[in-house]
Formats: sequence, structure tokens, C-alpha cells
Amino acid sequence: MPAFTASAPGKIILFGEHSVVYGQPAIAVPLGQVRARAYVTANLPGNVPARETPSAAGKVYSTVTIEAPDIGLISNLAELPADHPLSRAILSVFETLHVVLAPACTVRIRSTIPLAAGMGSGAAVSVAVMRALSAFLGQPLPLEQVCALAYEVEKIHHGTPSGIDNSVVAYNQAVFFVRGQPLQFLQLPVPFTIVIGDSGLSSPTGEVVSDVRRRWQIDPHAYDELFASAGQVARQARMLIENGTPEEMGPLMNHNHSLLAQMGVSSPELDDLVEAARRAGALGAKLSGGGRGGAMVALVRAQDASQVANALREAGAARVIQTIVAKKPKS
Ligand code: PMV
Repeated sequence: MPAFTASAPGKIILFGEHSVVYGQPAIAVPLGQVRARAYVTANLPGNVPARETPSAAGKVYSTVTIEAPDIGLISNLAELPADHPLSRAILSVFETLHVVLAPACTVRIRSTIPLAAGMGSGAAVSVAVMRALSAFLGQPLPLEQVCALAYEVEKIHHGTPSGIDNSVVAYNQAVFFVRGQPLQFLQLPVPFTIVIGDSGLSSPTGEVVSDVRRRWQIDPHAYDELFASAGQVARQARMLIENGTPEEMGPLMNHNHSLLAQMGVSSPELDDLVEAARRAGALGAKLSGGGRGGAMVALVRAQDASQVANALREAGAARVIQTIVAKKPKS
């Protein structure tokens, strides 16, 4: 029997991480070079014992085997804790589709998205699993619903997510995102080139988001100002992107990095990579995502991309991705 497959891209935040949690706008784009893929196949009788397993909600599902070799996980659904992101992703599809007895199946997940690097790995896995599984069940979920369900799983990853990761990943489009407001897709009349450097250090997004909240509670005035400035930067960046002058965004990226550093979410390694990119000719550079590890992103002229990429490798980046942000993301 053929596998039902679906994939979802990684993502990179260009402007507004952290301040987006506090209602300010942020800009994120999909990253097609790295992807999560899910494959769902029916278990042939005799291959896997088709025993029935009770779910947390008291319903009964046939055996669902989960294979995620990239994280060394092979398990039956019933044996995973109910608050594991993969069980949540699968159970939320069953619950939404009112599936009482699912056919015995195997959900296999492969991903090239670096883990805990601020590139949307968790959201992409959720989206790919939900799309493949709902197609396997004969009721493909609309993107809007996939996005909403993936948001619920994001809460397991880091308590109070803004919703930007699941949105950009589910729709595979550049977004101007404001928490609690309808999603706005960005017009991209002129493509631009970015180079991403992964520090190779895992970014503890949940911890960093909680730490920023503590700092905000201690000094709300200072933090509200930082958040408002970052929001202003994101609005200006949107205008430059949509007016077809994206290469003018460099100083805004630099400014956003300095605001993030003042929020306390940069690290010496990220600062070094940002500095190396700027010295190698980037138009601007900043950390991206939760910070204190994970990735940074540089805006470059197309002809400077390789030299900036080399400079990032020399400065210790564990992985470098060059990409063009354009109207139709590569899928
Ligand atoms: O998942 P990450 O590391 O890309 O971080 C998400 C961005 C934050 O603004 C820090 C958190 C959020 O939920 O928006």
C-alpha cells in the first residue's frame, strides 16, 4: 500500500522574535531547503499486532506505530506520554476527525531541520504529521485547522507561543504576524538573499521566553520600550519588502539585533556570527528565534552570499544555509 506523505518547511524569523509574544508584529519566512516529512502507511495484518490501545480520552485506537529515527524514537502511540508533542499531534487529528477506531498504521517522520535551532522543527513535524495522517484517514484537514492544531502542540514545546512558527510553516508563506490578529501574508515583489548561520548550540526557547517574561515583570517600562521599538522595526521592514526595496533592510536587522541583545537573549557565539557576517559584507545581521543559541540570519547582496557563508563557517557556524526569499517558496 502506498504511503500517504506530507512535508512542511522550516522557517526563519527575520524581525520581531520575543516582542511578538507581547503583541508586536513579526516577520517570518519559510525555509524550503530544510523540511520535515511524514509518511503514514497501513500496517499489513500480521506485520504489526493489531491490538487496541486506549487513548487518554478513553477512546480506543488500533496500534499506531511511530518511527522518528532522527530523534531515536520508535514507539507505539499508547506508550508515549499523552503530552509528548508527537502523541499530541496524532491524537489531535483523531479527535478533530472524530476517529474512534483508526486503522492500524505506522507514522514515520524524517526531518532535515536542525533541532532547537530556531528553524521551526517542532512546528514542521506537527504540520507534516497532521497533513499526512488526515489524508491517510481520507479527510485531509484544511490548512487553517492544521495551523490551529499545530499551535496547540507548540504550547508543549514552549508554554506561551505567539503562534508565528505554526503559521509560517503551515501556510508555507512569508507572514507579517501579529498575535491574535488574522494572518497577513507578505507581498514579495523583489526577491532578496539571506544567509543563515546555525551556532550549533541548542536554543532553549521555552526558558528564554520565560526569562524575558521575568525581566519584563521586573522592569515593564524598559521592556515595553524595547518591544515597541522592535515592533516599529518590523513595520518598517514590511514597508521596504512590499515596496520592492528589501536590500535597504540591513540597518533594521542590525537594530533588531541590538534590541534583542538588550532584552538579554543574545549570546557571545551569536554576537560573533553576527559580527562575522557584517565584516564579510552582509547588509545587516541579527540573531533569529529564541536566542542564546540557535541561529542568526544575515541579509546579503546575491553576489556576496558565498563570502558571507564562508565567513560564518570560519567563525564556527555548525551549518550555513543560503536562500532566496521570493514570492513562491521552493517546495
Ligand atoms: O521557536 P523559535 O526559537 O524560533 O522562537 C520563536 C520565537 C519567539 O518569539 C521567541 C517565541 C514565540 O512564540 O514567538
